[in-house]
Amino acid sequence: MTQRQMPGMFLTFEGIDGSGKSTQARLLHDRLRSAGHDVVLTREPGGSDGAEDIRRLLVEGAPGRWSAETEILLFTAARRDHLERTITPALAAGRIVISDRFADSTRVYQGATRGELRPIVDQLHATMIRREPDLTLIIDMDPETALGRGLARQSGEDRFEEFGTAFQIRLREGFRRLADEFPERCRLIDGGRGIDAVAADVLAQVQARL
Ligand code: ADP
Ligand code: TYD
Repeated sequence: MTQRQMPGMFLTFEGIDGSGKSTQARLLHDRLRSAGHDVVLTREPGGSDGAEDIRRLLVEGAPGRWSAETEILLFTAARRDHLERTITPALAAGRIVISDRFADSTRVYQGATRGELRPIVDQLHATMIRREPDLTLIIDMDPETALGRGLARQSGEDRFEEFGTAFQIRLREGFRRLADEFPERCRLIDGGRGIDAVAADVLAQVQARL
């Protein structure tokens, strides 16, 4: 069965740290459920028991703990488990899956400092993952403001935030380029506004696809 013929719908949120992805994913989940849809809210890295174990290896500890190559393998291993155990069964059952991050995060984050790694990310994706979202909402906003929001949370999961503002600026550019690369499924959403204004845009984009 090809991707387009699968009955469910696969939505992803992407963007820099602190841009409001989790907030918007939760709001969208609640609104779609209220409208009577069968919706699964999940996240990466994580979203299945095994992938949540791998998540802890990735988001805790010193920024230099892993090389970019090792990170690509760990994120892809986590994604494979997430896909097998959570995403594919839910889509096959006709449910709407909302994932807070997916493969675009690996394309952008692990390719951000060393652009030559992008082909490796793409090769691993082609052999191990293959699935692309039906719609990707990229929350786009000023990195300084987003970083301020993210670190204020003090979650203990700050390994990536600790790479600093220059890194987040590169990430923002990376996500904007990605929107140009995949125009049929990616939508840029201005995240520098109030939560309700962002949520209204998100809902309009999703309703256009339902
Ligand atoms: P992400 O998942 O992208 O890291 P979160 O949704 O966790 O972002 O939001 C990071 C912080 O910013 C949270 O404390 C959240 O309540 C707050 N926040 C989210 N969206 C907005 C917004 N539009 N305006 C102001 N604060 C926001
Ligand atoms: P997440 O919990 O979504 O962080 P945040 O809420 O701050 O946006 O993701 C944890 C970190 O992992 C985040 O900094 C982005 C990074 N990441 C990658 O580098 N590559 C990936 O493939 C994924 C899914 C996440």
